[in-house]
Amino acid sequence: MGATVVKPWCSTRLLGLPYSDKIASPVLPSSLPALYLSRLLPSPVMTVINQRFRLTASAQAGPPDRAALLAGLRQAEAMICTLTEAVDQEALDVAPGLRVIANYAVGFNNIAVDLAKARGVVVTNTPDVLTEATADLTWALLLATARRVVEGHQLVQSGEWGGWEPDQLLGVDVHGGSLGLIGMGRIGQAVARRALGFRMTVYYHSRTPLPSSPAQPWHHLPLQELLARSDFVSLHVPLTAQTHHLIGKAELRHMKPGAILVNTSRGALVDERALVEGLLSGQLAGAGLDVYEHEPELHPELRGLAQVVTLPHLGSATLATRTKMGLLCVENVLAVLEGRPAPNEVA
Ligand code: GLV
Ligand code: GLV
Repeated sequence: MGATVVKPWCSTRLLGLPYSDKIASPVLPSSLPALYLSRLLPSPVMTVINQRFRLTASAQAGPPDRAALLAGLRQAEAMICTLTEAVDQEALDVAPGLRVIANYAVGFNNIAVDLAKARGVVVTNTPDVLTEATADLTWALLLATARRVVEGHQLVQSGEWGGWEPDQLLGVDVHGGSLGLIGMGRIGQAVARRALGFRMTVYYHSRTPLPSSPAQPWHHLPLQELLARSDFVSLHVPLTAQTHHLIGKAELRHMKPGAILVNTSRGALVDERALVEGLLSGQLAGAGLDVYEHEPELHPELRGLAQVVTLPHLGSATLATRTKMGLLCVENVLAVLEGRPAPNEVA
């Protein structure tokens, strides 16, 4: 077995070795910290993970089934997981040696954070690195829905397009319209910055109003007023017990007739049944959705609605962003295992 040199990221305290990090001494690869990685991550991330950790189970491309997740966690000191894995009491119970859970996402509604904390397990997420990519995708959905990009693509591809027509696939103007952002954290603000280029009026609703400035001419509004004034409404809040079905029947009714709803946050922020009714009644002109209430299941009536653009949860899906997210998870795990504060511990 090839001996390897102690690297700064393998702390002697963690390895239980009697010598200091400063002495380059051979250690067995099996002394690397035990990591349960729930899914294969992009290859630049896998390279780093394979150098620095011993995996408790071979990582799979698809989501692990429950038994595989529990088995992988048993011996783990650290876990890197994704938003499709529920890390609940049962998962924490099987992993007495677990010290850190690094969620490969900014949202962490899949993790029982309070239970983890009560056991001294640190939970971290991946903010900042995915802000701009998620804001880009929010705009892709908004524009695609307003300007009927997918219907146009399908028409051309079908071979049935007969040529330019004065009233073909008429959409709604994005430029000069009003954009209502619910949630004005990092991602909400990144979406707002892009709206300036479209000369839109930006309203937002959040718990803490931002200081206004000429560079950030956005207007804080109560939710109901924001809904009544916005041509486009986009959601940028985390999913919690308080934000579950934040947009339901009543809220949809307050929206401007002909408005468009965009959701790149979490599906359960929206009562999907009410959304379907709003779309079928024509109250809403369309919806651009990257996330779903019962992901990956699609509400049957959202299937085949021409005014809905549906993406498979791609908010952060660029190679550069997903790589940064993975490296940030590694950084957070190593910090905790080495006794340093995690850069992205969730509140
Ligand atoms: C994706 O949905 C994330 O929370 O990062
Ligand atoms: C988190 O929710 C963010 O907006 O970055």
